[in-house]
Amino acid sequence: MPALADRSLKVFKIAVLVSGGGTNLQAIIDAIDAGIIRDTEIALVISNNEGAYALERAKAKNIPAEVISPKKFESREAFNDALQKRVQDAGVDLIVLAGFLCAIPDRMVDAYPDRIINIHPSLIPSFCGKGFYGLKVHEKALERGVKVSGATVHFVDKGTDTGPIILQKAVSVENGDTPKILQRRIMEQAEWKILPKAIDLIAHGKVKVDGRKVTVEE
Ligand code: GRF
Repeated sequence: MPALADRSLKVFKIAVLVSGGGTNLQAIIDAIDAGIIRDTEIALVISNNEGAYALERAKAKNIPAEVISPKKFESREAFNDALQKRVQDAGVDLIVLAGFLCAIPDRMVDAYPDRIINIHPSLIPSFCGKGFYGLKVHEKALERGVKVSGATVHFVDKGTDTGPIILQKAVSVENGDTPKILQRRIMEQAEWKILPKAIDLIAHGKVKVDGRKVTVEE
């Protein structure tokens, strides 16, 4: 794949993979409209869940949106093939996992080195890894009594939430927080800001990866 710095005249194409409400997808759409993410288009939205409200958000903006569900394939391998083929056919430069709950197959990680990012609703390496998704992340953070949580955008490698960290933003935990209240505050104050920012930085060649270390030029 060409170096991003050489692509200055081309529109940067992203695929956004979703499973649920799609508030992060909406944040990306709004950031493109507001010029916070520049020179970038959402070429494709894929959901593994046909009931995902994220699909409505895509349709409202005439963004191509498709359901590719593991339930519709006879094996996981067949699902993985379909997912990878669809993304490749769309010719995207970056795959954005915005609440996507299916594991990305290893060979897709190999095909898109440092070209798949994920948003996770905690400060990695806290409250991440297998089993830490959705409200469970916030339940565990509150159970542990942390005073600060937040969100992380990271590149996707073959582990769960183990890839190089691109951006993080801390968010305070307040007295009386429930998992839902904390989840919403982290979305509003962190996720919806750092995910669009990371996309714009990557689209403009400002993110350099060296092993597990990422340098961001701002
Ligand atoms: C977000 O909290 C994100 O961090 C996590 O899944 C949730 C997706 O929410 N990976 P939405 O579908 O973007 O509203």
